[in-house]
Amino acid sequence: MEDKKLIFSGIQPTGTFTLGNYIGAVRNWGPLQDEYNCIYCVVDMHAITVKQDPVKLRQNTMNSYALLMACGIDVEKSILFIQSHVKTHAELSWILGCNTQFGELSRMTQFKDKSKKHADDVNSGLFTYPVLMAADILAYNADLVPVGVDQKQHLELARNIAQRFNQRYGDFFTLPEPYISEIGAKVMSLQDPTKKMSKSDENPNAVILILDDKDTIIRKFKRAVTDSDAEVCYREGKDGINNLMTIYSSVTGKDFASIESEFSGKGYGDFKLAVGEAVADHLEPVRTEFARLIADKAYLKKCYTEGAEKALRYSQRIVSKVYRKVGFVDRT
Ligand code: TYM
Repeated sequence: MEDKKLIFSGIQPTGTFTLGNYIGAVRNWGPLQDEYNCIYCVVDMHAITVKQDPVKLRQNTMNSYALLMACGIDVEKSILFIQSHVKTHAELSWILGCNTQFGELSRMTQFKDKSKKHADDVNSGLFTYPVLMAADILAYNADLVPVGVDQKQHLELARNIAQRFNQRYGDFFTLPEPYISEIGAKVMSLQDPTKKMSKSDENPNAVILILDDKDTIIRKFKRAVTDSDAEVCYREGKDGINNLMTIYSSVTGKDFASIESEFSGKGYGDFKLAVGEAVADHLEPVRTEFARLIADKAYLKKCYTEGAEKALRYSQRIVSKVYRKVGFVDRT
């Protein structure tokens, strides 16, 4: 690999990503490929921290892999792989777990939220999830991690773990920096714009899935919750409109001032329709490319096998050094 900064990021295999995943993270990954060395992965091991149907998990993982390619990840430029194919992640996770305090994991807001939501299955994987995430990043000594705002706390923990390891065993890990886009780092639910858009929302109208067809996308935007005045402008307290403006801006490239003048004197109905159409048109090529890729399983297999080989080769060098540092006896 060329001597450029290293980017790492991952996404859970929910099958089809939400517009939040797309705007907050995935759509930024492709453009980074020329400036950086990029490593991206579908984190199926993270997914099993909540109950999964094995058949669906396998399908969703394949779909997510193809979808990342459809969103612009080029396997010639980046390493793209499936987490469970690369054993170094789990190996490093154990060692990092021995350098992570129970107290710090207890403070993770995602753990608190998820353990409420899955109260019948608060398993230890759910608790140590951020340690595996730190291992994903540190196994490559990544410099930058492009994520949405909701992952910031996990990333800070990864930095703390790296720092603690460095203090204990001597400088080794790079401290990874979050790379969070200014606009769209937290896309909100269309039905409750004070909550983030999330696949697990019970109300399907709250979430745009990037493989939704045009009619569905427009229908969901038409139903989006706004407010009782009628002015399209970005202002505190107008959470619904602010969210729609953010979405519109990020798919059209228009800034807020020009959006405000475009819709001045027009009603919310016109605005919502325009947002729906812009999003659907923007996503059309992704849907087409996904359909082409998912039909070619042999090609996908070749891509993810080669991706895993490259990822293993890269991370193995780092994890072997970690083994030496902690005092494990060399195998060879
Ligand atoms: P995950 O799969 O929940 O989400 C993938 C990415 O999408 C971003 N995101 C959002 N951004 C803006 N608005 C939203 N409504 C929204 N919803 C999700 C997330 O911030 C994320 O960047 N733990 C991670 C996956 C992971 C990872 C890693 C990420 C595992 N190992 C190593 C970075 C580095 C997760 O569950 O993301």
